[in-house]
Amino acid sequence: MRIGTPLTPTATRVLLLGSGELGKEVAIAFQRLGVEVVAVDRYPGAPAHQVAHRWHAIDMTCAVSLTTLIEQEQPDFVIPEIEAIATAALADVEAGGTTVVPTARATRLTMDREGIRRLAAEELGLPTSPYAFADSLDEVRAAVARIGTPCVLKPVMSSSGKGQSTIRTEADVDAAWDHALAGARVPDPRVIVEGYVDFDYEITQLTVRGAEGTAFCEPIGHRQENGDYVESWQPHPMSEAAAAAGRDVAQRITDALGGRGIFGVELFVRGDDVLFSEVSPRPHDTGLVTMATQRLSEFELHARAVLGLPLDVSLRSPGASAVIYGGTETKSLVFDGVGEALAVPGSDLRLFGKPDSHPRRRMGVAVASADDVDTARERATRAASLVRPSAADGSPDPG
Ligand SMILES: Nc1ncnc2c1ncn2[C@@H]1O[C@H](COP(=O)(O)OP(=O)(O)O)[C@@H](O)[C@H]1O
Ligand SMILES: [Mg+2]
Repeated sequence: MRIGTPLTPTATRVLLLGSGELGKEVAIAFQRLGVEVVAVDRYPGAPAHQVAHRWHAIDMTCAVSLTTLIEQEQPDFVIPEIEAIATAALADVEAGGTTVVPTARATRLTMDREGIRRLAAEELGLPTSPYAFADSLDEVRAAVARIGTPCVLKPVMSSSGKGQSTIRTEADVDAAWDHALAGARVPDPRVIVEGYVDFDYEITQLTVRGAEGTAFCEPIGHRQENGDYVESWQPHPMSEAAAAAGRDVAQRITDALGGRGIFGVELFVRGDDVLFSEVSPRPHDTGLVTMATQRLSEFELHARAVLGLPLDVSLRSPGASAVIYGGTETKSLVFDGVGEALAVPGSDLRLFGKPDSHPRRRMGVAVASADDVDTARERATRAASLVRPSAADGSPDPG
């Protein structure tokens, strides 16, 4: 692999589609390797925009805008960082000879819960929860009758828990459908009804496909609230049988998706049994913890895998991450308590610099390392809680 000089004709250029907090770390990882980084999002001032060589704000769900921009920038690699992208345009770009990470097909299949679920369960025979798809309230009723309660209803096109709810009895069906209508990425949503899995714990199995094969990071445990991650830690203790089953599922789904890069394979674990839930063909939010735990973070691994460079998935220390929410609605968030937070032993912070804060928007993360995971979790949670975001315009500090 040969890398040129940024901003000259020799540059090795990546185009990031999506410039959130994960994209920002990906951008920094490429910057460190001397790669030219162009960051794209739907609004200006997105986190990765702030650390890129150039940035653009476009509607990435519009195939014409996306194709025009890619033609203009002529990247060596197009790297999707979010799901809401005109993936049909990426297939054309790939057919034209530009690498889409990991592949255009993988980005299309994983943006749609139906595509990835059918691949995993029906083509590969991976164990999953029972499931059915529905396009109307009547079809949802039939699906719930078939799957049984409790079950989980999700728009097939949605992420971060949006539009997702648990149906405990048939009386919950109407409200769950209305919630899906409100949370879906498209106006007329198709939904999946999944049997509720009473798992012992859930993990993210970060899996990286590089030039010389596939490597597995130590499993990451995490805790979700309303479908959104609030805390993660690594390594998560697992029986050898469950860990091996998790790696096997991860190997099979990532082999089927192909290409190079990191994948976040989400698994539910009950005893020694492992169920496939979903997979991101890109760094995973729960993997922010790897900035405190691995010799190479998931972002650095992604950059190296894309470029075909050697990988090292070794753990440096147990660690944890805890999310910092905006807590308030403002365009001028300020963070107090940063010094107190960083005085927590082994801790570090990432403040994302997002221009708009909402009460439940992720605005930063605390990470911490320690000799054991329990201590790391306590440190990360404490550091996160010591950071007090508030509106600079004088609205009250909620923290
Ligand atoms: N079938 C299920 N049974 C039990 N919990 C579930 C199920 N599906 C989702 N969840 C919970 O909701 C979280 C978010 O669901 P997920 O399908 O990963 O959606 P997203 O794409 O928004 O991350 C999961 O990490 C898990 O905690
Ligand atoms: Mg998920």
